[in-house]
Amino acid sequence: MPLRDAHNRIIRDLRISLTDRCNFRCFYCLPNGEPPLARKETILTFEEIAYVTDIFVSLGIEKIRLTGGEPLIRKDVPKLVAELAKLKPALQDLALTTNGFDFPRHAAALKATGLDRVTISLDSLDRDKFLDITGVDALDKVYTAIDAAKKYGFEPVKINACVVRGRNDDEMVNFTRFAREYDVSMRFIEFMPLDSGHDWSREMVVPGREIHEAINAVYPLRLKEKSRGSETSWKYAFADGAPGEIGIIAPVTEMFCGACSRIRLTADGQIRTCLFSTNEHNLRDVVRNGASRQEIVGFIEDVVMKKEPRHYINDAEFVPASRTMSFIGG
Ligand code: GTP
Ligand code: 5AD
Ligand code: SF4
Repeated sequence: MPLRDAHNRIIRDLRISLTDRCNFRCFYCLPNGEPPLARKETILTFEEIAYVTDIFVSLGIEKIRLTGGEPLIRKDVPKLVAELAKLKPALQDLALTTNGFDFPRHAAALKATGLDRVTISLDSLDRDKFLDITGVDALDKVYTAIDAAKKYGFEPVKINACVVRGRNDDEMVNFTRFAREYDVSMRFIEFMPLDSGHDWSREMVVPGREIHEAINAVYPLRLKEKSRGSETSWKYAFADGAPGEIGIIAPVTEMFCGACSRIRLTADGQIRTCLFSTNEHNLRDVVRNGASRQEIVGFIEDVVMKKEPRHYINDAEFVPASRTMSFIGG
């Protein structure tokens, strides 16, 4: 029996944060850094992650995405990938989200150990703006990462840009040209109130509809059939048949919670049933206190039943999530 929540949503998708640390300081995520988690005692070991992931997969999880912070900050990620890949074919999809900085030197090992897909963040195509947004002069590194992802056959390569009014909202058409030239899936994400600087404001959100209009005016788009399901994005092909794809992720203005299939595990072993959860469930201590496999299954099933119906970003009584994005991983 797959995991099912109280709103009849089936949970197939687990996102595992490997670390809350990051070598970038993206202003929409972790502008000033945060006091990182105390390392040794609190962070799940790779053995613990592999053990609980095996249980999650036995409960119907089919997709796993490794996130951060920046997951490749953690040592030996390919070793973890090798362990998790043993769960295939029940595990159908093993992916990674990265800022790209360290990806080129791990790409071959990640491919060899069984990683299927990679998503790379890229918030500007202009070197100075990239530095301004991320705090790091690393645009070239990210291009190298995208080349490596293509070279090693991580298909399709997805690129994430978090769109923020006044920062990079003038680059939509450039990003689109980039998607066509590089044959990648270029996704535009509405800025959500999960930044550690608490700078988010509604005025900074560029609505998905506006993003669509700006692109469609220059490069006409065609909505792909079956482009939604439990996925976050509307997916578009180019009407002129050019390579590449556009994805628009609009959690703020077009909530997609009704079809949500996702839960999350933080680096310190807490289950989060929603990006915007105001509480967490301590799987780490359940495991470390010697619970049996059956007890862990029971714990996970109970937690999933508590999954929030939706986020409340647009409600007057919105209460910010108990942790910011660098602890959750997107
Ligand atoms: P795949 O679907 O496996 O390809 O994962 P992905 O991480 O490449 O893309 P996905 O669309 O899942 O996530 C991209 C971004 O969308 C994340 O970095 C978040 O900013 C946002 N996002 C992802 N999942 C959720 C969610 O459940 N709720 C909300 N509100 N935003 C989400
Ligand atoms: N709002 C929307 N997306 C965000 N991300 C990080 N912080 C935010 C935010 N506040 C996305 C980035 C990155 C991924 C890991 O999470 O686009 O690609
Ligand atoms: Fe799912 Fe929460 Fe995201 Fe809505 S905000 S799609 S319920 S994780």
